[in-house]
Amino acid sequence: MRVRRLPLSTLLTLFLLLPLTGVSNAQPRQSGLLFLTPQLQAMQRDPDTNPISLWRDQGQALWSVQCTGCHPKTEAMKDVATHYPKLVAINGVHQLRNLEDQINVCRQRTEHPAKSLEDADTLSLSTWLHAQAQGLPMDVQPPAADPTSQAAWQAALAQGTQRYATRLGRMNLACVHCHDGKVGAQLRAEVVSPAHPTGFPIYRLNWQTLGSMDRRLRACYSGVQAQVPAPGSAELRQLELYLKVRANGMPLDGPSIRR
Ligand code: HEC
Ligand code: HEC
Repeated sequence: MRVRRLPLSTLLTLFLLLPLTGVSNAQPRQSGLLFLTPQLQAMQRDPDTNPISLWRDQGQALWSVQCTGCHPKTEAMKDVATHYPKLVAINGVHQLRNLEDQINVCRQRTEHPAKSLEDADTLSLSTWLHAQAQGLPMDVQPPAADPTSQAAWQAALAQGTQRYATRLGRMNLACVHCHDGKVGAQLRAEVVSPAHPTGFPIYRLNWQTLGSMDRRLRACYSGVQAQVPAPGSAELRQLELYLKVRANGMPLDGPSIRR
């Protein structure tokens, strides 16, 4: 069947009629890496063809020039990528900060302030920090501080949980319909994974560049023809919090290749 020639609406209808192949909660949680083609998995394993190597090396170089002045103990950053997003209070207002947000907060303290959330230096630094944490368990926890922060963190998690199940866009689909209900199904050229966010940042061949989780989530909004939230919006951070808490204990296996 040449599904590629069909309009998206027809395609999605066909897709929704496919038998359910979703994994049940009893099965081990699966990383997105397992849903790649054998060729892409081979590219992921081979440092000579894996484009991520260049980004990681660039991140390491930037780190030693721009960051070690305030962070002399690089070892202290080893597991940092496993703990984000974190809740911070700015002038008494709570907000979630993911790793790229934190990198950019720190870049404002240097002579090379960030131009955007997805600028190449920020992504390189994120790639390098994630590479340090490869193999460590995801570990996103509520703040240890005061009860007010804990309540704000729980509220953000509840909003992310609810949003994951809320229908979106012209396709009228929620995240859960694809990422729990259709795991293993083929959608266009991709195979739907359970969306465990262990593999970020990702080098997506489709983008011809590296991208953060923020960008991937926006691509899913666009895929269901929903209004795409602004980069860095609270909505995207709440979803990131929910998905990362859901993946707690899984090994971080990013940065990684995606189709
Ligand atoms: C002028 C000092 C300064 C510089 C330079 C600096 N940082 Fe930071 N960094 C901080 C402070 C202070 C914190 C504590 C959190 C905060 O206030 O943002 C921090 C926290 C962090 C954290 C979070 C650590 C954790 O345990 O959660 C990361 C990641 C980080 N910095 C990355 C970087 C990177 C990447 C650079 C280089 C681009 C950098 N920092 C440069 C001052 C600095
Ligand atoms: C129409 C189906 C569909 C819907 C609805 C959808 N996605 Fe996706 N999503 C995909 C496909 C296809 C991919 C790429 C293959 C994969 O990794 O699952 C993807 C990828 C992802 C990934 C990256 C996984 C990885 O390991 O690279 C995350 C995270 C994600 N989606 C989260 C979400 C969230 C959150 C929502 C709701 C706002 C959502 N998706 C809605 C189809 C969907």
